[in-house]
Amino acid sequence: MAKTYSIAIDGPAGAGKSTIARRLAKDLGYYYVDTGAIYRTVAYFMDLLGVSPKDLDGVNRYIDELTIGIEYDEDGVQHMIMNGMDVTQDIRNQDISQKASLVSAHAVVRDVLLDMQRDVAKTHNVIMDGRDIGTVVLPKADVKIFLTASVDVRAKRRTDELIAKGQKAELSQIKKEIELRDYQDTHRPIAPLKMARDSVKVDTSDMDIETVVQTIKQIVGKKIPV
Ligand code: DC
Repeated sequence: MAKTYSIAIDGPAGAGKSTIARRLAKDLGYYYVDTGAIYRTVAYFMDLLGVSPKDLDGVNRYIDELTIGIEYDEDGVQHMIMNGMDVTQDIRNQDISQKASLVSAHAVVRDVLLDMQRDVAKTHNVIMDGRDIGTVVLPKADVKIFLTASVDVRAKRRTDELIAKGQKAELSQIKKEIELRDYQDTHRPIAPLKMARDSVKVDTSDMDIETVVQTIKQIVGKKIPV
């Protein structure tokens, strides 16, 4: 099998991971895999069944009834398919963000999704973003980036994003939710969010998108033929 290249981008909510990863994937001709969307799909599925994301027995009981598909449209946008249904839009709200953070703490959920994520990277050049890509999913990734920003900047970005989509969003509330999610994602026992030893930290607090893209392209260019 020909060598495939992988770029791991980890970091907390609102650091700009998906915006940057999507741009880079387009420019480099790589597959973009938004792994948060996969956890969101699990959370949405459990929610529809009335299973609390904290209820390990319930999650265990129903996880095998879920089939997750990832498809890409002609613009390279990742679509999440839950048992044959496109749920790409349904998983993008604050309620599901919080539930995804809780459901992702269960070993059974992480185990099911691990192979799925690794399989994509075996057959394609990928840019994958999430919380544990550089540490657990692709520990041998060619490039590892830890993208972060202050909580105030991240809360502002997320609020603007939700308002632009026509959703209600209040800055102080979004900030609280992000802080809670940061805490949950960094303190869970399995695959917590943390910086891999060999990753490069990029703080985007004072950078615009174009600057972040150029910064990361320089890091990537030193390790991968582009
Ligand atoms: O990136 P996101 O905000 O869409 O992710 C939603 C939640 O999913 C996040 O709070 C924690 C979980 N997640 C994870 O545990 N591991 C990943 N690789 C990606 C997301």
